[in-house]
Amino acid sequence: MSTRTALVTGAASGIGKALVEKLDREGWRCFAGYNRQPPDALLETCSDRTQAVQCNVTDGESVKSALEEVGGALAGGALDLLVNNAATTGGAGGGVENVDIDRFKSLFEVNFWGQVRVTQAALPFIRRSEDGRIINVGSASQYLTIPMGCSYPISKAALKRLTQALRVELKPFGVQVTCVEPGGVRTPMIDISEEQRAELWASFPEHLLPQYEAQFKFPGDAIESAFPLWSAEKFADRVYHEVISAKKLKVNYLIGPGVWVLPIIERVVPDSLRERIFERMFRR
Ligand SMILES: NC(=O)c1ccc[n+]([C@@H]2O[C@H](COP(=O)([O-])OP(=O)(O)OC[C@H]3O[C@@H](n4cnc5c(N)ncnc54)[C@H](OP(=O)(O)O)[C@@H]3O)[C@@H](O)[C@H]2O)c1
Repeated sequence: MSTRTALVTGAASGIGKALVEKLDREGWRCFAGYNRQPPDALLETCSDRTQAVQCNVTDGESVKSALEEVGGALAGGALDLLVNNAATTGGAGGGVENVDIDRFKSLFEVNFWGQVRVTQAALPFIRRSEDGRIINVGSASQYLTIPMGCSYPISKAALKRLTQALRVELKPFGVQVTCVEPGGVRTPMIDISEEQRAELWASFPEHLLPQYEAQFKFPGDAIESAFPLWSAEKFADRVYHEVISAKKLKVNYLIGPGVWVLPIIERVVPDSLRERIFERMFRR
């Protein structure tokens, strides 16, 4: 079989970086999409089959030129795998009562519209593959109800619905689509800084701050204490063996320590009990 090809967005750090390293070790040719900083550390550990491509998923021109670069390098060949991995948790914290709507929209620009944009631009090349695949990286957090932090899981829930639509639309053309839902992977994303912490509380107007502070824990603390953490390398290994190497892709793969319980809570546990579980997790 000829060398398989993959484009991974947001590959300069965390899960994206570990996935490209794994694919490279397995002999794939990779295009490592990055946003702000070129992924120098990644390129050092990879073979010359891996190349960096600047791709800000919120910017149509950047996505267009990234895919032109990929298309040029493929020289008529196919893109076998797209991993829509780029995402952010930042900037849109707070209660629904006070969240900054422009920031909420900016988060969706990365986590949802960015994935639509890259998928549209990459599909002409994926369609050339005999076994084209798209992996949307969702989040186990979409099974949780996170007070003061709902913007991120809502964007990931939307991405899951997008995955379901793409699966049906692209099946006749032989393109398989899935949503990989990580939880509890040690990456820069879960490394919450003091500034981010302060920013969340500062998002509340003065008259609401004492009320919310008295009721709720900082959401990141509650999640971190509920789940142990895996390394990004362990996670990438699991994704490679369970998802990328699978013959037929399932709708979604929930991967991470302890996260298997979340859909069971959603499906089996009555609503009132589920709400009590999340209250206990996030309330002071
Ligand atoms: N770690 C976990 O436990 C966990 C849990 C659930 C879901 N996830 C998901 O896993 C994926 C990878 O996250 P991670 O944990 O590895 O965190 P990460 O290291 O912060 O990776 C996110 C990457 O996305 C990139 N990115 C952000 N905005 C972008 C933009 N506009 N255009 C292109 N790239 C952009 C970032 O690059 P810049 O820094 O240069 O912007 C960064 O390299 C994400 O989809 C995340 O939602 C992770």
